[in-house]
Amino acid sequence: MTLEQELKDLHQQAIDESRRCDNLDRLEELRLKYMGRSGQITAILRGLAQLQPDERKVIGQLANQVKEDIQKILDENKRELENLALGEKLAQEKIDVTIPGSRGLIGHIHPLTQISEEIIAIFYSMGFAVAEGPEVETDYYNFDALNTPADHPARDEQDTFYTSVRPDVLLRSQTSTVQIRVMQHAKPPLRIISPGRVYRNEEINARKYPLFHQVEGLLVDRDVTMGQLKGTLSAFIRALFGKPLKTRFRPDFFPFTEPSAELDSQCPFCEGSGCRTCGNRGWLELLGCGMVDPNVLRGVGIDPEEWSGFAFGMGIERLAMLRYGINDIRHFFNNDVRFLRQF
Ligand code: DAH
Repeated sequence: MTLEQELKDLHQQAIDESRRCDNLDRLEELRLKYMGRSGQITAILRGLAQLQPDERKVIGQLANQVKEDIQKILDENKRELENLALGEKLAQEKIDVTIPGSRGLIGHIHPLTQISEEIIAIFYSMGFAVAEGPEVETDYYNFDALNTPADHPARDEQDTFYTSVRPDVLLRSQTSTVQIRVMQHAKPPLRIISPGRVYRNEEINARKYPLFHQVEGLLVDRDVTMGQLKGTLSAFIRALFGKPLKTRFRPDFFPFTEPSAELDSQCPFCEGSGCRTCGNRGWLELLGCGMVDPNVLRGVGIDPEEWSGFAFGMGIERLAMLRYGINDIRHFFNNDVRFLRQF
């Protein structure tokens, strides 16, 4: 085969191979195969020196033409492949600016916090200030000062968690402790409420949880009456449930009040005719209350001949369950978003 024929064949072969080539790496291999240092066209150009002058001229021209043409074809192909790759990349990374933005999950206030804030606001409007006390307490504040000495049977009803700090250090079982702390430091007249966590050593079920919340209330002034207690609590219940509801006292016992009572309200759902929430009774037990026992006042250095007072304490979970129709106290603590989202 003549050199001329060889060049023409190489030319055709390079064109065919380039056409079939569909990736950039392979295209570079083709360039090297023909035009690289040890490429086939390069080899022919190198061999020109050994040819006769006439032949050298013809073959030299042809070889350079072929070389240029192959280079051109490879360049074109390269551009096409690059465009293709860019197109694919753009298609992949395309951003649809018309898609609505995704909204981040925004948390909100826990139902217990919501109702606590409402309770505080209602009593605040009646002139009660908020006082807080520690959750880790001594049995003096939790029991003794509340007229519940060590051998008093009422201690059994509020078994709590004791600590290894000291035998008398425990987790408070009631927010009534704050009554004592406030009265030790402030002079009457007093009007406080105290929201907070309390603990009981009890088995968990739908109505009981070892940790829950209470709001305590205390008013100390001159000539305080049970009528004022009932009026205050009735106003509170009306505000909390958003309508006037009948209330009633039922005799009860608490060591630190005398007399003591349980306050019931007419069921806000059936308004007294009987429904599932009130167990067909028409009434709901809402909270404990009473007139502050003179012994308690004496214990903190307040003269019961001059001052008297009323106190009350309510469970926040219970109020929230009634208000929102929740049937299991554990919902408040499981942190299931499907539950929490509803408030
Ligand atoms: N501390 C009581 C309890 O946990 C609730 C209570 C009842 C508080 C009567 C009071 C009160 O202040 O007067 O069961």
